[in-house]
Amino acid sequence: MSEQSPKSPALSNLSREERRFEPPAELAAAANVKEEAYARADADREAFWAEAAERLDWGTKWDQVLDWTDPPFAKWFVGGTLNASVNCVDRHVAAGNGDKVAIHWVGEPDDDTRDITYAQLKDEVSKAANALTDLGVQKGDRVAIYMPMIPEVVVAMLACARLGAPHTVVFGGFSADALASRVTDCEAHVVITSDGGYRRGAASALKPAVDEAVEKTGDLVRHVLVVRRTGQDVAWDDARDVWWHDVVDGASAEHEPEMHDSEHPLYVMYTSGTTGKPKGILHTTGGYLTGTSYTHWSVFDLKDDDVYWCTADVGWVTGHSYMAYGPLANGATQVMYEGTPEKGRWWQIIQDYKVSIFYTAPTAIRTFMKQGREVPDAYDLSSLRLLGSVGEPINPEAYMWYREVIGGERCPIVDTWWQTETGQILISPLPGVTAGKPGSAMKALPGVAIDVVNDDAESVGNGNGGYLVIREPWPAMLRTLWGDDQRFKDTYWSRWEGLYFAGDGAKLDEDGDIWLLGRVDDVMNVSGHRLSTTEIESALVSHPKVAEAAVVGAADETTGQAVCAFVILREAAGDGGPDIVEELRKHVQKEIGAIAKPRQIMVVPELPKTRSGKIMRRLLKDVAEHREVGDVTTLADSTVMDLIKGKEGSAASED
Ligand code: WT7
Repeated sequence: MSEQSPKSPALSNLSREERRFEPPAELAAAANVKEEAYARADADREAFWAEAAERLDWGTKWDQVLDWTDPPFAKWFVGGTLNASVNCVDRHVAAGNGDKVAIHWVGEPDDDTRDITYAQLKDEVSKAANALTDLGVQKGDRVAIYMPMIPEVVVAMLACARLGAPHTVVFGGFSADALASRVTDCEAHVVITSDGGYRRGAASALKPAVDEAVEKTGDLVRHVLVVRRTGQDVAWDDARDVWWHDVVDGASAEHEPEMHDSEHPLYVMYTSGTTGKPKGILHTTGGYLTGTSYTHWSVFDLKDDDVYWCTADVGWVTGHSYMAYGPLANGATQVMYEGTPEKGRWWQIIQDYKVSIFYTAPTAIRTFMKQGREVPDAYDLSSLRLLGSVGEPINPEAYMWYREVIGGERCPIVDTWWQTETGQILISPLPGVTAGKPGSAMKALPGVAIDVVNDDAESVGNGNGGYLVIREPWPAMLRTLWGDDQRFKDTYWSRWEGLYFAGDGAKLDEDGDIWLLGRVDDVMNVSGHRLSTTEIESALVSHPKVAEAAVVGAADETTGQAVCAFVILREAAGDGGPDIVEELRKHVQKEIGAIAKPRQIMVVPELPKTRSGKIMRRLLKDVAEHREVGDVTTLADSTVMDLIKGKEGSAASED
């Protein structure tokens, strides 16, 4: 594109100030949220969130904003009642926006598209709510959802929300075992699925995994509701299985919604802990919808005519908060895409639908960097005005590439920090208000009390690193772990009295801006020095031959831990040349210092990633420490570890 310079300036040639992104004055003037919000929220946090809650439609208004008399069990908007699905659909239709497109759905294969208006969505959700009622689903019952990225998954979620039946969406890439354990843990009597889905143009099956999972759960599951997506043959149990088109399509589009208590459970989202069984994160209705809708509106500076696209799968929390509930509560128009990131396809979609706000993960950005800028450069991306990043720290090199190649140096980037547990974004720049620094998520949002503390829970102050904690409750916070209050307390609230411990390390720079350093368990201690895996990964990725890097701290007799790195080279770098390992070690030394110089670097073809794109450092640590590689069942591709082990020793260098 013409306004972009042909080549990305090498990051190391830019000064700190040159890397900063100062929002243009027009953006500041038009921003939904102004600078004053920070001080206003500090002065009266509860009043601030009450104002955010006013953006929703309530049946009965609350009589107390926050009940925090029994920490860590928070209650928000106590006494209030509302219906999440009414807030996401009915009210937009009532306001005269029924013809506005809610979802531009883009399927695989690519000629399969659907545009769904808010009025159509309301009808579908009402029909599905009636059908679920006929299948025996009542308020409070749990419903498991195991589906591909098709509009029916959103309809199913909202229908559950309408009935007050908490859903648990299980990512379609998870195994039958994973589905079974989640169905069992939350005792779901109904599972909603599809015959299959499309991945890279080919049909894959889902129903067989459901059959297997249901088998494992004894007689728990009474009905399986099946959307026909691919038309493939499926095994059928007449007593249990029901086609979606048989019971939903013909159902009445009239459904009188009940108003639910603000603290009524909305959904359970399972997330893996470091060990043991997955944790069922419980989110409730009023606070969650307040937190997600407010942050979607403020962080993405949402305007009426925006076309928003969050690339996350609905099976993860990002898909819940920033594809389903946040954008729909705000009446936004969004893109929903069934496929996975393939060369050029995303940019084609941005061009075709004139996407203005784009929200994705650093891992995707680095994948695209690897493909080279010629790919996105072939498309018209001028509709974009705002870019978001989520899920892991974004290394400055990827940030700069995103800003320049995708954003044409005109789009602010919001690097958003949050967790399944937090429900909503808590740390992010506000477009037009906060400057951007590549690699920093910048500041806690208004109304959010973030701190960085040392082992004794004392604030570390500017210029120092420590643990990321949250000092005050926030509306979309998890309420507990499903059925396990004790584990909830132990996991998040036991390290320091009254503080929520996020599990992340962070540092405050001289300006007080926040730099996330990765999970604390990924922070290494080398000869008594604290080193961040992320920082070293950034250094490696800033080398022109490196596409992706993962660093682990491996046990070392002399230094406690030693830095071990795994790198994927860029396509253009070939095999990197005979001295690649030494070259990279020197590069890290130059970027950070001798202490950070990796003991070992392995050039590998792939990195082990979970289906959400997170690198599983635990497995790399096994390789680095010459152990049998542990459980690989949550890897997106379980053969990756064989490829990496095959390389062991071949590219290692040790002093
Ligand atoms: C962990 C939460 C948030 C939805 C997707 C992941 C890391 C998340 C960032 C960011 C640095 C980030 C943290 C956090 N993380 N966003 N912008 N910068 N780190 O949700 O699976 O619950 O993971 O992801 O380590 O604790 P999740």
